[in-house]
Amino acid sequence: MESKWIVSVMAMITVLLLVSMCGSTNAALTKEKKKVCDKGWECKASVYCCNHTISDYFQTYQFEDLFSKRNTPVAHASGFWDYHSFITASADFQPLGFGTTGGKHTQMKEVAAFLGHVGSKTSCGYGVATGGPYAWGLCYNHEMSPSHTYCDSTDYVHPCSPGAEYYGRGALPVYWNYNYGAIGQGLKVDLLNHPEYLEQNATLAFQAAIWRWMKPVKKNQPSAHDVFVGNWKPTKNDTLAKRVPGFGTTMNVLNGDTLCGQRENESMNNIVSHYLYYLDLMGVGREQAGPHEGLTCEEQTPFNPSSTSATSS
Ligand SMILES: *[C@@H]1O[C@H](CO)[C@@H](O)[C@H](O)[C@H]1NC(C)=O
Ligand SMILES: *[C@@H]1O[C@H](CO)[C@@H](O)[C@H](O)[C@H]1NC(C)=O
Ligand SMILES: *[C@@H]1O[C@H](CO)[C@@H](O)[C@H](O)[C@H]1NC(C)=O
Ligand SMILES: *[C@@H]1O[C@H](CO)[C@@H](O)[C@H](O)[C@H]1NC(C)=O
Repeated sequence: MESKWIVSVMAMITVLLLVSMCGSTNAALTKEKKKVCDKGWECKASVYCCNHTISDYFQTYQFEDLFSKRNTPVAHASGFWDYHSFITASADFQPLGFGTTGGKHTQMKEVAAFLGHVGSKTSCGYGVATGGPYAWGLCYNHEMSPSHTYCDSTDYVHPCSPGAEYYGRGALPVYWNYNYGAIGQGLKVDLLNHPEYLEQNATLAFQAAIWRWMKPVKKNQPSAHDVFVGNWKPTKNDTLAKRVPGFGTTMNVLNGDTLCGQRENESMNNIVSHYLYYLDLMGVGREQAGPHEGLTCEEQTPFNPSSTSATSS
């Protein structure tokens, strides 16, 4: 009798032990799936930090190569932009996948793509400029002679601050009170009352630009980041609109209404050319940019056709 009792107690203990062992293997498995890494201040507490960080493959000398004319005396923001501001700003977004998604190749291409937009929008280069037309990115940090204050007084969510002017400022220039308001909210900086911060602080200017790159312009739309790194699956409507994953669609996300769907637009070609130029300088090579269809948006229907402005004709 007694021995039977002992055997059944032993059996129960074994079962308990097995159950607890299974439990701990399960826990180990789920932990494995969510493995996160820390790479110091640049990339923290994210699965994206387990691969390279941006400063692993994009260093000061490369930034200097890409933006070699920005500190010349004729540049309009001489002394403003630097590598350190870019990396510091990117640290907020690397844990979300900015420049840290996929293999090193994809990562380098994303940085070249983002900077291609930035370089084109802030360039003061032209056909015969020394160093060529693409050597002049980050020449500006704000619009030089704004023709108006870009205040949409019908926007009650982001009302204009008295006296503030919302002309273009930053690395991907921000215009209009509603855009300053939305980005300020995203970054938790009061840009609605202090739009001038974007031309006073290069780190903040890069943060605003990377924020724009990482966030959809409208709900249920992909971000420029998503369409570039392959996080986005086109819907039937997208396919009908010729919107495919790749660099071309980043222009659709960021500037669709002014650039896309009009064969051979000069501004569109200028953005593409900056991207290709940077791919070369970074040692990736422009041939890695992929086929022409994915590179432009000349055949694409814009995600957000203009007519959004309250004062549209
Ligand atoms: C890390 O790199 C590998 C190979 O380079 C890639 O397949 C993987 O998707 C990357 N991880 C993330 C989170 O992007
Ligand atoms: C510039 O902006 C960054 C990031 O938003 C902030 O941490 C820093 O304090 C700002 N610098 C100055 C001088 O205000
Ligand atoms: C697809 O496009 C049609 C016509 O423009 C529109 O009515 C419909 O809502 C769209 N569907 C989606 C899922 O966006
Ligand atoms: C194309 O690009 C130019 C700037 O080069 C821009 O002003 C214009 O709105 C765009 N659209 C057309 C139809 O040219």
